[in-house]
Amino acid sequence: MATQLLSDNQRFKLDREDDRVFYRDPRFVHHLDQGFRSRLTQLYRERIPPCATVLDLGSSWVSHLPEDVTYDRVIGHGMNEAELQANERLDQHWIQDFNRDQRVPLDSASVDVCLAVAAWQYWTQPEAIAEELLRVTRPGGEIIVAFSNRMFFTKAPQIWTDSSDQEHLDYVESVLSAQGWINVERIAESTRASGIAGLWGANGDPFFAVIGHRSRP
Ligand SMILES: C[S@@+](CC[C@H](N)C(=O)[O-])C[C@H]1O[C@@H](n2cnc3c(N)ncnc32)[C@H](O)[C@@H]1O
Repeated sequence: MATQLLSDNQRFKLDREDDRVFYRDPRFVHHLDQGFRSRLTQLYRERIPPCATVLDLGSSWVSHLPEDVTYDRVIGHGMNEAELQANERLDQHWIQDFNRDQRVPLDSASVDVCLAVAAWQYWTQPEAIAEELLRVTRPGGEIIVAFSNRMFFTKAPQIWTDSSDQEHLDYVESVLSAQGWINVERIAESTRASGIAGLWGANGDPFFAVIGHRSRP
């Protein structure tokens, strides 16, 4: 049983309609700007060895992995079949609403790295998911939770909508730590906007990541 941290109020979303309705139609758009995506791909290049089995949670038509690196296996999870079908990085994928069922249909210790990009913020039961992800991750493996300061406001639970960027980092770290993830690291950086705005010094989407590790026996 996962260690529960959130109150019922903190799990509350303004839009109570089934999430599967919201994600029924594919969105072939970028949810994060070029600066954010470049920083994320750089992080993946530094952190994920090519021999890894990678699990991209809350995926879409893009996974942000470096194009020139071939991983052992990339497994995708998401909410829209057409988006996941279009994601050329995925070797396999499945659809699942984590707000209804948090069980991850993968064997224990079968994944090296779990990724969640702009996805954790929509989970109303993050404790149970973090516990499941620890189960499916091999000893020595890690989880990288990345996000910026944007969201589909009505679909995010109150714990996210009512918090600052700093509090988002604290929150993700606390949930991971409570389920047994260790040596949790945090990254908080600004990015540069692309194009002429960037040349004039404008910022892009801020980059945040929380990285947890599964202990070795
Ligand atoms: C803003 S998109 C981010 C997509 C992708 N990770 C990216 O970087 O473009 C949010 C994603 O969160 C996931 N998501 C949202 N609600 C979910 C839910 N109830 N259960 C499982 N996943 C959910 C979906 O896969 C959705 O595509």
